[in-house]
Amino acid sequence: MSLFRLDASIRVEGSASREIADIVEAGWREGDPAAPVVRRHLGTEPVPATAWAAAVAGSATPAAERTAEQAEAVALAATLTDELVDAEALLFAVPLYNFGVSQHFKTWVDLVITDPRMGPGAPPPLAGRPAVLVTVRGGNYSAGTPREGWDHATSWMRRILEDVWQLDLRVVEREFTLVGVNPALDSFADVAAELKQAAEREAAGHAPHLRSRGSLAA
Ligand SMILES: Cc1cc2nc3c(=O)[nH]c(=O)nc-3n(C[C@H](O)[C@H](O)[C@H](O)COP(=O)(O)O)c2cc1C
Repeated sequence: MSLFRLDASIRVEGSASREIADIVEAGWREGDPAAPVVRRHLGTEPVPATAWAAAVAGSATPAAERTAEQAEAVALAATLTDELVDAEALLFAVPLYNFGVSQHFKTWVDLVITDPRMGPGAPPPLAGRPAVLVTVRGGNYSAGTPREGWDHATSWMRRILEDVWQLDLRVVEREFTLVGVNPALDSFADVAAELKQAAEREAAGHAPHLRSRGSLAA
């Protein structure tokens, strides 16, 4: 039993996405305290934004002719991909920033897709692997709210994880995490508390899904 966990929050203290992902991870780990977890803290230790272009150019260049920068970027893409394909289950915790996908998560995805195992045309090595995406938003984007349709991150993340990589994905969403932080949202305290509890319940409920694959050899 092994887990790959990615966190894209730019903070550690008070991070709502980490809190929800911790619930999923704790449930996954139940009964196997020594189970290994490979972690990527993308928000606090991002992969370099310049690596993607170097990896794209490097992957189109024979290995012996790559520049040092290209060789390094191709190797980094391979390392990131190894972390994914070696894990039996995957957990992603990614907040909404500026109505779009976290730049750190996007950079990481772009780099991973330069690896020949993950690119178009290759049989997806992660197909069917159990995964959970935790996403949190400071505001509320549900139907009928003024910001309905402004979340441009979640659908893209689903496309990549579910459709391109073909993970067997469950999604936990928590909204209104800025209630209690932004005084303009104080009147939503009750609904925010309900949404938090619902997300926590859902997170705990998805833990067995992450264990569903057993071992890669199974
Ligand atoms: C720079 C920045 C931009 C943000 N942009 C949005 C946004 O566009 N929409 C939104 O609902 N919340 C936005 N938020 C709020 C975060 O989504 C919210 O605080 C979330 O809980 C952050 O994840 P974390 O708690 O795991 O750190 C933003 C926060 C920061 C720091």
